[in-house]
Amino acid sequence: MFAFNFNNTTMHIFYGKAALRDYLKSIKTSNSTIGFVPTMGALHQGHLALMQKSLLENKNTVVSIFVNPTQFNNPEDLAKYPRTLEEDVKKLTALSPKIILYAPTVEDIYDGQPLSQSFDFDGLENQMEGEFRPGHFNGVGTIVKRLFEIVAPTNAYFGEKDFQQLQIVKKMVAKANLEVNVIGCPIYRESNHLAMSSRNERLSPHEREEAAIIYKTLTITKEKFQTESPESVTEWVKKAFENNTLFTLEYFVIADEETLLPSVIKEPNKKYRAFIAVFVNNIRLIDTISLN
Ligand code: PAF
Repeated sequence: MFAFNFNNTTMHIFYGKAALRDYLKSIKTSNSTIGFVPTMGALHQGHLALMQKSLLENKNTVVSIFVNPTQFNNPEDLAKYPRTLEEDVKKLTALSPKIILYAPTVEDIYDGQPLSQSFDFDGLENQMEGEFRPGHFNGVGTIVKRLFEIVAPTNAYFGEKDFQQLQIVKKMVAKANLEVNVIGCPIYRESNHLAMSSRNERLSPHEREEAAIIYKTLTITKEKFQTESPESVTEWVKKAFENNTLFTLEYFVIADEETLLPSVIKEPNKKYRAFIAVFVNNIRLIDTISLN
C-alpha cells in the first residue's frame, strides 16, 4: 500500500490485488457498502461525477485506474491512450481522500497472460462497438469481471456515454449471478456539449471545438425521430457527414435500448436510442442520445 499525501490529506493507493483485498477486509463491517468506479484514468469531470455519487451512496469508495490492453483492438489507440496517474491522484485526493485507489499493473491483473475470456452477451456484443472493434467486449467483460472479483463492490457506477458497455456489464452480472448493482449515470458534457472522454485530451483546440457537431447531430436526430422513420433519419445523418472534411462517420445507428438491435420501425412501448461513432484525425469519439 502507498499513502499519498497532498495538501495535508492522505489517500490509500494499492498497486496489488492482495494488499487491496486485505485492506478492504480490514475495514469491512456488517452494514458497510463498497461503491466502485472502474476507469482507465485521464480522469475528467464525468468520472468525478460517478465518484461523487458513489461517495454519497456508499460507506467506502474504490476507484480503479487501469488501461486494459485486452479491450483495445487498435494498437495505436492503446499506445496513445493518455496515462496521467500523478494528475489523476491529485484530482482524486482533492475530491475526497476517503477514495481508495487501485492502480494495478498488467501483471497484477493478468498474471502474465493478458488474454480475454470469451463471453456470450446474448448478441449485445455484435452491434455497433462490437462490429467495429472486434474483441472489444470480451476484453471489457474480462476486466470488469476480474475487478468485481477483486473489489467485491455493492454498487458499481458506469457512464451512459458507453451505453452499450453499460448494457453488456448488466448482462454479464445477470448471467453470472454476481451480487453487484450496476448503476448507469448521465453523460457529462463540455461547454460545447461534446461528451466528456479521456480521448478528448488528444484533440487539438480546433478539433475539440468543432466536435460540437456530434451532439448537434444527435439533437437534430431526436427531433426528426418524432416524425420520421429510423431509415430516413439515418440517411439524413450520413448525408450531413458526407462533405465534412474534418469528421468521418464510422456508424450511426438507431436501436432498441434493450436489445441494441437496429430498429426499422418504431414500436410503441419501446425505448430507442441513437448511437454515433466518428473519427477526427484518427481519434475515435462516440456519443448517444435517448430518442423517446
Ligand atoms: O469505460 C471504461 O473506462 C473501461 O471500459 C472500463 C469499464 C474501465 C474497463 O476497462
